[in-house]
Amino acid sequence: MRTQVGIVGAGPAGLLLSQLLDLHGIETVIVERQSQAHVEGRIRAGLLEPGTVALLEEAGVADRLHREGLVHGGIEIAIEGDRHRIDFVDLTDGNTVTVYGQTEITKDLFAARHRAGADIVSEAGDVAVADIAGPEPKIQYRKDGETHTIECDVIAGCDGFHGICRASIGPEQLTVREQLYPFAWLGILAETPPVSPELIYAHHSRGFALFTMRSTSVSRLYLQCTPDENLDDWPDDRIWEELQLRLGGDAAARLVTGPALDKSVIAMRSFVAEPMQHGRLFLAGDAAHIVPPTGAKGLNLAASDVRLLSRALIDHFEHGRSEGLEGYSAACLRRVWNAQRFSWWMTALLHRFPEAGPFDLRRQRAELDYLVSSRSAMTALAENYVGLPFG
Ligand code: FAD
Ligand code: DHB
Repeated sequence: MRTQVGIVGAGPAGLLLSQLLDLHGIETVIVERQSQAHVEGRIRAGLLEPGTVALLEEAGVADRLHREGLVHGGIEIAIEGDRHRIDFVDLTDGNTVTVYGQTEITKDLFAARHRAGADIVSEAGDVAVADIAGPEPKIQYRKDGETHTIECDVIAGCDGFHGICRASIGPEQLTVREQLYPFAWLGILAETPPVSPELIYAHHSRGFALFTMRSTSVSRLYLQCTPDENLDDWPDDRIWEELQLRLGGDAAARLVTGPALDKSVIAMRSFVAEPMQHGRLFLAGDAAHIVPPTGAKGLNLAASDVRLLSRALIDHFEHGRSEGLEGYSAACLRRVWNAQRFSWWMTALLHRFPEAGPFDLRRQRAELDYLVSSRSAMTALAENYVGLPFG
């Protein structure tokens, strides 16, 4: 088999890249390790920057997003139960963010790709890339007991943090910068109405909590927990009690409880591998970088990588111009590092660090007080939260 762009991974990055390239008549084949149902069922991100929404519109997959997505003009920060609103519309010249689950984005993208007759190989085994430094890179995989090879002009590594593409670039070719955090998030999905129309990021001496949603009847909740937290220790009653304590104030009394539909522990990590290219292999999304989820940048960064990579590939195949591909990594990394800084800052601002001493705790409170009382500080948060320009 031969294709122009071989794509490893059918997460948001791989599907969106395939969709955008197809609009320009560029052929792709996607090779995915899991089944489509598995990919669509993964409960992950939920908050989209305007740049991501615009890219999904450009890809022709935003109709349902505009019908069902919830548009938010701000967020709230709760400090020991005391709530303060940060107004994005006012502070960033009218910008808003949109709540629409990653599960729904992947469903919309899979549907659009199938309508266009896309080549998607699901449940591929032993996926590997070969000859990435030369002119004829290949993707190999096993399916139905046979080994298959796809000869490509270019390979896009969209296979997430645990994929094989980044690992196929030798360690001497990549610089990795990484930071781990001494806590994780317990993520809960519940069929209960959200406590408030907008997201609440809650700083509390018991630990951080985030109140978000998937719709006006489904809440998504996160609680700071230990990295090795055992889900069995978190029956529904304990979760709601802890959420109430961390939310505090009068809102706690309004919290509607109900059975959890899903519970998981989400690790916290900052990670960047540079450059995001080796030979004819280009990395995009979580394959190249991970942010801690505070600030909701992971999926949005995958989208901004894909925007740059799709434009560079269109320039290459339609016009024979290679500048975009040559500059791809540097152009992505500028935005990636901005988002890394912001995600690290928001994580450090809002969480309770187990090793924090009395000085650290008081300093953290002073920073929170400054944030919610200074228009400049709120503007800096708002500008980064709605997302820096897609470049
Ligand atoms: P992925 O979505 O990881 O997609 C990669 C795809 O490649 C997957 O389908 C995978 O099955 C496939 N794959 C992997 N290995 C292979 C292989 N060897 N061969 C073929 N295919 C392979 N971000 C936020 O902004 N907010 C959040 O609340 C949030 N919560 C998260 C919770 C969890 C548990 C996780 C893991 C991530 C979360 N993120 C969140 C991050 C966000 O979901 C990711 O940034 C986003 O999914 C990145 O998209 P991607 O397409 O780059 O990678
Ligand atoms: C969501 C997750 C986040 O990490 C975040 O900062 C905002 C929203 C969410 O799942 O809705």
